[in-house]
Amino acid sequence: MAMLALKPPMGWNSWNTFGGNINERLILETADAMVSEGYRDAGYNILTIDDCWMLKDRDENGNLQFDKAIFPHGMKFIGDYLHERGLKFGIYEDAGTLTCAGRAGSFGYERQDAKLFASWGVDLLKYDFCYSSPGSSDVNLYRRMGQALRESGRDIIFSGCWGDEGVWKWMRSTGAHMWRLTGDIKDSWDSICEVGLGAVGLEAYSGPCGWNDPDMLVVGVDGKGYVGKIGGGSTDDEYQTHFALWCMLNAPLLMGHDLRNARPEIKKILLNKELIDINQDDAAITAYKIPTTRDYFTILAKPLYGGDIVFMIINKNPYWTYYPLSWDYCGWEITDEVSMRDCINHTDLGTFKHGLTVKIEAHSCIVYRATRK
Ligand code: GLA
Repeated sequence: MAMLALKPPMGWNSWNTFGGNINERLILETADAMVSEGYRDAGYNILTIDDCWMLKDRDENGNLQFDKAIFPHGMKFIGDYLHERGLKFGIYEDAGTLTCAGRAGSFGYERQDAKLFASWGVDLLKYDFCYSSPGSSDVNLYRRMGQALRESGRDIIFSGCWGDEGVWKWMRSTGAHMWRLTGDIKDSWDSICEVGLGAVGLEAYSGPCGWNDPDMLVVGVDGKGYVGKIGGGSTDDEYQTHFALWCMLNAPLLMGHDLRNARPEIKKILLNKELIDINQDDAAITAYKIPTTRDYFTILAKPLYGGDIVFMIINKNPYWTYYPLSWDYCGWEITDEVSMRDCINHTDLGTFKHGLTVKIEAHSCIVYRATRK
């Protein structure tokens, strides 16, 4: 028996950069880049094809049809290609009659679709919520597919997309392994803060086999492609903060940039092993907020397996400033001696007592891993 999504799932999804503009070549080249650029070995092992891989109509037997014009060898071929390279295969569908982009949805065909996905070697289903049938409750629509997946004969991670307000309170009961908390992220600092910080306070709902999902990463989207054009782009400091925040939140780490042409700065952010280890930590405790009277700061603490605590301070001000960090809110005494390691710059900072004062750049953050002596 397999426990699915014991750790926050990691991978790549086609939507943020490519939207509906996808094809077999892009997917195969992305798979190759996941391997050759070191993403797979860093843990990013699920490649998900989002909306628009299917036609609007089913065939005469009611089966979903992949779009042969863009996927000439079909979906089983993609699944095999990924599996041969140690990758997993994710695919997108929708709980309603149509997907968000207007292709055939799964409503009324859940069992048939789940079996088809299993036959293609699908390992993750992202399940959206557009065009849901009037009168069907959102909980029931997700139950129908959760049940169908469990009966499909294959282990398939069930990734619940937007349902309703409070999705985190019920989505786990449908068998979902992760659930989108918000509408779509955009490639902008405001959007990163809105969806990322919106997850703070919901930490008690997230844990092994069922994770809060503040949406996919826009790191390196660089104002290009589908959500890039909507948001306009972010700076590298903003991307760094975005990635570190998702790690603190135990969020699924689903990259969305063009892996074939990533800038070195972007790869450095996404392949930071110290931050990935925090996201994948065995204690699986999601960061909680340390109260502050200074509105333009968010201070988070994440306890790790083995007793370390990771502190993150986000400076939302458009200018650099100092912040005094203390640790007596987290189960330690302020007089305890604590050593600190900077997980972004990979440096040891020394040992401190009574807290320390930290300089933080605009729209930037620090992430320090602390060990009590
Ligand atoms: C919704 C989802 C996105 C993407 C699109 C596809 O907007 O939130 O992540 O899957 O649908 O149409």
